[in-house]
Amino acid sequence: MLEVSKISKHYSTPRGLLTVLSKVTLSLAPGDAVAILGPSGIGKSSLLYILGGLEPPSAGSVSLGGRNLYELASSELAGFRNTQIGFVFQDHCLLPQCSVFENVLVPTLVARAGDTGQRADFTGHALSLLEQVGLSDRIEHRPGELSGGEKQRVAIARALIRRPHLVLCDEPTGNLDPVSAGAVASLLLDLHRRQKNILIVVTHSARLASQFPIRFELADGQLNRIES
Ligand SMILES: Nc1ncnc2c1ncn2[C@@H]1O[C@H](COP(=O)(O)OP(=O)(O)O)[C@@H](O)[C@H]1O
Ligand SMILES: [Mg+2]
Repeated sequence: MLEVSKISKHYSTPRGLLTVLSKVTLSLAPGDAVAILGPSGIGKSSLLYILGGLEPPSAGSVSLGGRNLYELASSELAGFRNTQIGFVFQDHCLLPQCSVFENVLVPTLVARAGDTGQRADFTGHALSLLEQVGLSDRIEHRPGELSGGEKQRVAIARALIRRPHLVLCDEPTGNLDPVSAGAVASLLLDLHRRQKNILIVVTHSARLASQFPIRFELADGQLNRIES
């Protein structure tokens, strides 16, 4: 379960305190796929980073699987994030000098040395994920040799390599043409259905949000459920 309780976020700016989130509460279970819709500047990335353990809220708590993220020591939080949470960003953030296959394995590099069984498992899982995202014939390519949609599919495979319980996507189709965007969104949902994780996508695209079974709008620091 992901339990978000009364999180607020304020930034101090030269013009005073800017409140972007105001007592946001949300409870999601494995298998939930959620889109959070809102215009640029409304606080979507702030919310996603807080949910992902990357940025502490000004108030409130976030717990995943019963662990309160911001009560963990920073080294513990880093390990927790690495194994439990997968991220996909608008800019794929792939390592340009590494192959597609190596990029997918990056989150596994912190696995304990000598854990050869797990390493072999990750290798097989990476190949399987690359097949599922339709890139089996691109595994030796560098990111510079891929289309935008293909890069984003690598980023999705990388986000899923540790079999995270929570997958967070920040405008994952923001840089793609409509056809590639539709394909990436379908793929995210398809993989989500197979893995039974919690999937949260934040986006300004009503079209992307409409593909998700649960939708919220972020406005005035609050999450409002969009009823279909
Ligand atoms: N570190 C920061 N310091 C001050 N203001 C910030 C900071 N990060 C974001 N903001 C402001 O908070 C608001 C929400 O930002 P963000 O969460 O990135 O929105 P979105 O992802 O919806 O575009 C914006 O007005 C932005 O300028
Ligand atoms: Mg943003």
